[in-house]
Amino acid sequence: MVAASSFEEVISLIKDRLDIVEVVSEYVPLKKSGANYWGLCPFHNDKKPSMSVSQSKGIYKCFSCGAGGDALNFLVKIQNREYKDVILELAEKFGIELPKKFSPNNEKKNEKKEMIKACKKAAEFYNLQLKTASDANKAMTALRKRDIDDEIIKAFTLGWAPNKYDSLYKELHKEFKDDILEHAGLILKSNNGGWIDRFRNRIIIPIKNENGECVAFGARAVDEGQNPKYLNSSDSMIYNKSRLLFGLNSAQEAIKELDGVVIMEGYFDVISAQAHGVKNAVASCGTALTPEHVKLISRYTKSRRIYLSFDTDNAGVNATKKGSSVIKETLSALGNVKQFDESHISSGDDNKYACEIRVVSPPQGKDPDEFIRTAGGEAFTEYIKNAPLLIDFLLNNTLKNRASAKTPQEKAELVAQIIDILKDVNNKIIQTEYVKMVASIINVDENALLKELSNIDRLSSRQEITPQVVTKSSQFEIKAQKNLLSVFLTSDSPLSYQKLNEMLPENIIQDETLIIVKNTIDKLAQTINNVRELIKGLYTEFIEDDNLTQILTDIVELSEAFKGLEQEEFECAVRENVTRLERLYQEQSSKELRQRYKQVNDDEIEALKMQMQLRDKIKLRTGDK
Ligand code: CTP
Ligand code: MN
Repeated sequence: MVAASSFEEVISLIKDRLDIVEVVSEYVPLKKSGANYWGLCPFHNDKKPSMSVSQSKGIYKCFSCGAGGDALNFLVKIQNREYKDVILELAEKFGIELPKKFSPNNEKKNEKKEMIKACKKAAEFYNLQLKTASDANKAMTALRKRDIDDEIIKAFTLGWAPNKYDSLYKELHKEFKDDILEHAGLILKSNNGGWIDRFRNRIIIPIKNENGECVAFGARAVDEGQNPKYLNSSDSMIYNKSRLLFGLNSAQEAIKELDGVVIMEGYFDVISAQAHGVKNAVASCGTALTPEHVKLISRYTKSRRIYLSFDTDNAGVNATKKGSSVIKETLSALGNVKQFDESHISSGDDNKYACEIRVVSPPQGKDPDEFIRTAGGEAFTEYIKNAPLLIDFLLNNTLKNRASAKTPQEKAELVAQIIDILKDVNNKIIQTEYVKMVASIINVDENALLKELSNIDRLSSRQEITPQVVTKSSQFEIKAQKNLLSVFLTSDSPLSYQKLNEMLPENIIQDETLIIVKNTIDKLAQTINNVRELIKGLYTEFIEDDNLTQILTDIVELSEAFKGLEQEEFECAVRENVTRLERLYQEQSSKELRQRYKQVNDDEIEALKMQMQLRDKIKLRTGDK
């Protein structure tokens, strides 16, 4: 065991033990070429190896999507986990003893373990009650009515919470401390200060995490008028409902194998689906789909093929719309959503899309559960096979209402809805084909529809341009500023940090993010005088910020250009970047001045002042040459 005195030291010791090539190789096959290794970037749909791994710098960087960082960042990102969890796990793996003051962490770990144990015991208790409790009959009847047999009860450890105040507490309090049971959400303080069971008179559905550990419960009412219909565990130290999907523990293999996941709304939808052979079904637990859910399932399906199979009512359709927006937004950095099925357009290659969203909505039954129980798992699988892409589903759904759109206003509203769907189609040829089709169905002029669409195009492209105009720094300026920061991170630099700092005029770094990087370099340089350690420290400082981590990686990458230079060449390169930036800044402020001069033309005094300033600037510039 190595003992660390601070959390930073734990991270530092871990980093010393991580070899970037080894770490990345576990996930991506790498090939050496020149000084670096290359492989397919796992963070976007990479076609040719765009990701470079530099052993000497200890970083990876994708030249296509921009992802980059050190070995620890790679692990956090690819495992899609909290960095603290990854660090704790690695510390254990490498035998690094956590500092004393982090023993609450150990305590916490123990508490979590106890909570998980308590939940497991509770699930077993409830499961047993289903067979033994005096009032279990009505639960069994309700389950049988839903075609749930003993095999399914066993597979999902379904159970029964008797209609008594403390049957679970009586059973568990001998083995577990009260606060463990309370934190696990199993018991509540009663009015008279004692403890009572949280779940009573309900069918119990244990909720398991990815590792199959029971961490929470859903509890379904059985009596007429018993409210709420479902009582769910609240979030706790071991349960975060926006990061957990019900059924994922038993569905993960099938999701990988089928390269697709079916997302449903309810516990019983998933139970029926998995029990009837639709093994890749999951559901969120009484909450809408979150970005974390989307990232979670993206880890299991390579093509990110997601089938939404929600209830068939209006609420279900709305959930489909909302859910698909969340999916699109979460994965937008990866590219486009698949929008067309023909293979001659997609060149038969599903992988080039950010994701593929399809909707499974059989016409009979109120939800997948009811459909599967009446029509069978195979019929449902058939619907999955033929599931329309999201866009086709949405169009269809909107066009269904066309008969009720009679007045010009109603028709315009219908058209607006359709345009809202079609505006996202990237391929213009396909978009035009859709327009033709829709125009003939709802009997409006095709050209009018096209015109509306191109109006939207223009509006949105104008919106995209505006922020570019107002951004403070151009690409060119950013590059020069990054260059100037990279000199601090050049290994075997002939100049010390102090010397370099003296060469930089004040305010030469103006980009907001790069100022953060510079300030952090300044801070760390007070105690670190070795470039390798400095880079390591910077990554640790930025561990929670992916944007800063990527920018830092760009800078480390740029430092390569300065490597091996003699002191004189080095100084010359630094000065050149400084001069270039000063020019750029000056030009910019002259431009601004000129613009302001135009605006204040009426106000003579102000205008005169400006003019003089402008002249000074120009003088300065020409004098500089
Ligand atoms: N849900 C919830 N709380 C409620 C109602 C619903 O948490 N009061 C969640 C549950 O996860 C439930 C899902 O939303 O499984 C779907 O709700 P619903 O369709 O109403 O329930 P079903 O499970 O389909 O129940 P049933 O078939 O018995 O009507
Ligand atoms: Mn339902």
